[in-house]
Amino acid sequence: MDQQSAKVILDGNTYELPVIVGTEGEKGIDISKLRTLTNYVTFDQGFGNTSNCKSAITYLDGEAGILRYRGYPIEQLAEHAGFVEIAYLLIYGDLPTAEQFKNFSETFTEHSTLHEDMKHLFDGFPTRAHPMAILASVVCALSTYYPGIDSAALSTEEFDRVAVQLMSKIRTIAAFAYKKSIGEPFVYPRHDLEYVPNFLNMMFSNPSRPYKIYDEVSKALKVLLILHADHEQNCSTSTVRLVGSAHSNLFASVSAGICALWGPLHGGANEAVIEMLEAIQKEDSNVDKCLEMAKDKTNPFRLMGIGHRVYKSYDPRAKIIKECAHDILQKLGINDPLLDIALKVEKKVLADSYFVDRNLYPNVDFYSGIIYKALGIPRNMFTVMFAIGRMPGWIAHWKEMMDNPGRKIGRPRQIYVGHNKRDYLSINKR
Ligand code: CMC
Repeated sequence: MDQQSAKVILDGNTYELPVIVGTEGEKGIDISKLRTLTNYVTFDQGFGNTSNCKSAITYLDGEAGILRYRGYPIEQLAEHAGFVEIAYLLIYGDLPTAEQFKNFSETFTEHSTLHEDMKHLFDGFPTRAHPMAILASVVCALSTYYPGIDSAALSTEEFDRVAVQLMSKIRTIAAFAYKKSIGEPFVYPRHDLEYVPNFLNMMFSNPSRPYKIYDEVSKALKVLLILHADHEQNCSTSTVRLVGSAHSNLFASVSAGICALWGPLHGGANEAVIEMLEAIQKEDSNVDKCLEMAKDKTNPFRLMGIGHRVYKSYDPRAKIIKECAHDILQKLGINDPLLDIALKVEKKVLADSYFVDRNLYPNVDFYSGIIYKALGIPRNMFTVMFAIGRMPGWIAHWKEMMDNPGRKIGRPRQIYVGHNKRDYLSINKR
């Protein structure tokens, strides 16, 4: 194999396939002509080795624990940037100038309210509805209240408006979903507040109890949103791309992404981690028992918040979140025993050959729930927080795909393993 091509030998014939090299030296074999040339397809369950696109949004090296948005290291962004600034960076490719940032922020404010009729949608859900179900439904329903957003025909200005509408309204929808679940009146967005404090105010203030917005709380939530803002071709982002590849509109595509994120193997893990830590606490903090269950191949239980498809070293986001958890608990004067249990689980995982041999480390969801809990965010809203954070990433990927003139509808192949041809028998002859 030379540097620019790969040779595949099938049935005695040699085929040459081009090699694609990314800007960070990642190499991929372009198999797009493989079936036409050879009649073979590739088999890759879970797409562990398959790139579906070239992307310039996020770079991630799972072996080295590197994550960068548009080239900027995640550590620098989490420390110094704002969430709206990061949204601009991800969607448009560069950090905004002061003027661009001002215009972008102003349109956020402009689009933060929901169409009044949309409030009735929330009444249609049972009180105990999971907010992720409400979020996915209401985001999809945006396309009925703000029509004329057919993706294939969107102009640049229309895309800008739809993207900001979605980014801005998602936090209003999320806060309304929460208010609905606790039977309190909706709190409308305020034009004098920035993105994160505005959201916190909609979540936690009510007519009889004004909410004091602490800078520490806003900062901790901002860091979490930035850390969740993109993670290249993860399950929900791939879903957004796949749905969008059929030219479904942005609202519908993102709604599908929200559903994918809800699963406990993906964004839903943050909720499951707290449940797991509480279960350990109930068992007299017996961490060993939990680890044994996770290692037992006859038991489907897994340690939640541990392991990652791409990271085979410590998830750089988890590193920042762990520090942030210590920091915010200390600042708020909270002593959460779940943090001690989590630290104990991590220590044992990092020293246990089962987890070490499989390169299993804490991921982004392992410590995030402890922070959300400290901020007063209820457990069923944890994955909603993830969704608000991931919104710029989903929008950026949808845009990148739609801007690619060579895009194709997503349509994987399969290897059929069912029955060979057989003839139909009417029901009384079976
Ligand atoms: N506990 C116990 N064993 C595990 C775990 C775990 N959390 N994760 C992976 N393994 C084992 C797995 O059983 C397998 O063992 P073996 O080789 O003996 O069959 C090996 O490690 C490889 O696992 P895999 O399932 O082939 O790996 P994957 O890349 O398909 O799955 C994962 C990645 C994240 C779904 C998985 O690690 C997992 O289920 N983790 C727990 C759920 C979780 O925390 N999810 C959040 C992921 S990060 C945020 C996000 O993406 O939203």
